[in-house]
Formats: sequence, structure tokens, C-alpha cells
Amino acid sequence: MRKKIVAGNWKMNTTRPDGIELAKAVAARAAEVPAGVGLIIAPPFTHLCGCGKALEGSKVELSAQNCADHAKGAYTGEISVDMLKAVGCQWTILGHSERRQYYGETDEKLVEKVKLALEAGLGVILCVGENLAERKAGKHLAICASQTEAVLKNFTAEDMKKIVIAYEPVWAIGTGETATPAQAEEIHAHIRKVLAGLFNQAVADDTTILYGGSCKPSNAKELFAQPDIDGGLIGGAALKADDFIQIALSF
Ligand code: PGA
Repeated sequence: MRKKIVAGNWKMNTTRPDGIELAKAVAARAAEVPAGVGLIIAPPFTHLCGCGKALEGSKVELSAQNCADHAKGAYTGEISVDMLKAVGCQWTILGHSERRQYYGETDEKLVEKVKLALEAGLGVILCVGENLAERKAGKHLAICASQTEAVLKNFTAEDMKKIVIAYEPVWAIGTGETATPAQAEEIHAHIRKVLAGLFNQAVADDTTILYGGSCKPSNAKELFAQPDIDGGLIGGAALKADDFIQIALSF
């Protein structure tokens, strides 16, 4: 049985003190969320250590939003997987569309990052998703399939135990516009088919696939009711502990 997960991607929001307060507020309510639903928060790098401490004793796990594509050395401004491990991260988000769009994240770089993250023992939340032009051109299934394949063809069925996929249509991120449950389900089911082709049916059945893009308390229930949607990667609504927990209670 694949795991249900609600993960909060804080992006470049909150100062460190505000972030630690938010982490404490999430941790304080985490016990309300059923045991079968995992909770993850991904604060900015500078808050990871403090947020990790705030989560101690709760079931909430800690994620980074990105990692370097090299293990160590002369890469000014970058943060390595070992650094993330050392501050208590269990996860990293990789390949978010904002990284692909604004910071030149390529599939090749993503392969390196996923390798390093898995070697370090981090779980990976790998993001895929089409933009508006691609959806309008009817290419959404093909784009999501090719982004998934380009990275995951380099990994094994065993590696997939540590990889979660997040489908995030770019046109729905931070726009208030959400994919309909049917639109999201179509892609999730398709990604599962791609996984069955790349690996086998068991991997396809066991991989957690999250939906992201303006997911909030008012629409989470409908989205999570879809057979292939196993939770959410939440941006804006993860910045309020009550909304985030409410979403996690929507299964
Ligand atoms: P949003 O962001 O919930 O604010 O749309 C989701 C994401 O980009 O992870």
C-alpha cells in the first residue's frame, strides 16, 4: 500500500523566527492527522536547523527545497546533500517548476541531484508538470511522461522506494486556479502507467504521487478522493498551520 503524504513547500517565505513558529504550530497539531498520512515541511535552507528542532517528538518530517548537483567543493552558494542530512533533513524536493523555469534546472542536473540525495539517504519529492501552452496544445500527458522518464530511467525499482512524484501543473501554481480532480487524475494515472513501463506494476502501485497547484482546504477532499492522487505538495496554504493541517485531514 502506498503512503499518503501532505508536504508543505514554503518556497522563499517566512523569516527564520516566523518559520520556527510555523513549524511549532504544525508539530503541535500533527497528532490530529491519521497515522497513515505522512506530514513533511520544506522550509528555506536557513530555517532547517531551527525547524528541525521544532519538529522533534512529532511525526512531521523535514525537507529541503533543493540541493546541489555536486557532493562538495568549489560551488559558491550551493548546499550539499550531506549538509542537509547534518541538519536533520529526511527529504529534498527536486525539479520544482520554479527551479526549472528560473534557475536552469535540467533533467541532466536532476539526475545528478537525485543520485546524490539517494546516496545520502534522503527521500526525494520529484516534481513534474506542464505549462499552460503545453496544456493548450494537448501535450500535457506527453510532457509529464517525458519529464518523469528522463530522470527516473536512471534509477532502479529499489531506488523508487525513496522517491515520491509530485504532479504540479505550472498554470495552477500560486494562481488560485486548480486542476480539476479529473484533470489531475488523468495525469496521475498516466504517470503510474509510465512507472509500470519503466519498472513494473508493483512500483507503479507503490509510488506515492502528490498533486500540487493551488491545493487548499476547500478543494483537497475532492482531489484526494481520486484513486491515483495520494496527497499534496502545498505552497501558499502551507504557510498557515491550520490550513495545512486541514488539508492533511482531507483524506
Ligand atoms: P501553490 O504551490 O500551492 O502555492 O500553488 C504549490 C507548489 O508550487 O509546490
